[in-house]
Amino acid sequence: METTKFVLCFILLVHTQVSSTELDNALESFIASTMSKSSGKSNTDAIQNLFNLYNKQYNRKIRTTNEEKLRLDSFNKTLNMLIEHRRQGDKTYTLGLNNHSDWTLDELMKLNGARIPEGKVPTTNAKAGERMMTWDGKVATSRASLPTWYDYTMVVASGTKIPVIQSIKNQQACGSCYAFATICLLEFQYVVQTKSTLILSEQQVVDCSKSTSGCNGGNFINTFNYIQSNSWQVNTASYYPYKNVAGKCLFKATAPGVRFSPLLYNTVSSNNVVGMQQALIYYGPLYVAFFAGSNSSPTYISILNKFSSYQGGIWQPNGCPTSSSTRNHAVVIVGYGVDTVTNIPYWKVRNSWGNTWGEAGYFRIRRGVNMCGIESDAYYIAKRA
Ligand SMILES: *[C@@H]1O[C@H](CO)[C@@H](O)[C@H](O)[C@H]1NC(C)=O
Ligand SMILES: *[C@@H]1O[C@H](CO)[C@@H](O)[C@H](O)[C@H]1NC(C)=O
Repeated sequence: METTKFVLCFILLVHTQVSSTELDNALESFIASTMSKSSGKSNTDAIQNLFNLYNKQYNRKIRTTNEEKLRLDSFNKTLNMLIEHRRQGDKTYTLGLNNHSDWTLDELMKLNGARIPEGKVPTTNAKAGERMMTWDGKVATSRASLPTWYDYTMVVASGTKIPVIQSIKNQQACGSCYAFATICLLEFQYVVQTKSTLILSEQQVVDCSKSTSGCNGGNFINTFNYIQSNSWQVNTASYYPYKNVAGKCLFKATAPGVRFSPLLYNTVSSNNVVGMQQALIYYGPLYVAFFAGSNSSPTYISILNKFSSYQGGIWQPNGCPTSSSTRNHAVVIVGYGVDTVTNIPYWKVRNSWGNTWGEAGYFRIRRGVNMCGIESDAYYIAKRA
């Protein structure tokens, strides 16, 4: 019995790897042959073959003719973009096929669920004289000395082997990025405070927080306020799993979960890169929002499409707005460094689109120029010291 299971797993593994290489290879030869043609005339058969391979690798079900046409059209647009990106050459980031390659603009737009609060919001909930505890249980008395490189995905809770950052998650087709970003900060607090791991429920935030809008977006402050109003209680994700749609609130205080002691939050104000690095090193990952593209102009559409096809490197698309109000996608900064290939300073950022997107679920974005508004304001949380 054990042997059979092992063999089955092994075959599945080998099978997936083969089909992945097959698609990658097919894409490479398609791009090469298209780029070598001077006429720019596209080959319908080659596109169809690639599309069939894609459907197989990404487990697309048999669909109606109309649906099939719509998906092929989106997929073809992605191919055209990949080719154009290669033609332009010399970019600091690469693009490729992934689970988003056949999505429509509207579907991609829906993922951008960061809503920037209107009007003035308090930069902290700490009262005068109240201090925050650093992640390793100290009170910061001076400025942190800044290493050239830092990465929480490689950090464990002091005295343990327990990683402070949990595996990448997937918001699927729901605008719940704000819930994933906030829960990442809470899971970090759980590890550093208890020296053990607990995977917490984004669905609870999506369903129960009245001041955010479920799958239609939300922001940090309102999510934080919800957690506070719920007496800092969050159920586990295994008790309250992710459903990809908003529904009735099923939070239960007596079910598996955590009750945090009161948390404080603080904000690093706009364009304060060193302040963000200090806060990151002392207190933990930072909740940020940035502009991930939209459907409102050709440049913004191009940013939307390229970001969804991002595969690796330093993200710095042309024409990305830095204004605070255009930001629409919430993510978590977990580190920073300087790219060894391009010498560009970057933030390492955790996305919530699964671990097959980007650099194993993460991306790196240019640091120091408020790229796409990512340095507009950053939130961090901690225990009261
Ligand atoms: C793919 O896009 C190209 C460029 O816009 C177009 O010429 C071609 O007809 C499209 N092919 C399919 C199969 O949709
Ligand atoms: C992949 O995309 C399909 C739709 O194209 C969607 O239904 C599915 O949830 C996606 N899977 C993940 C893991 O994001």
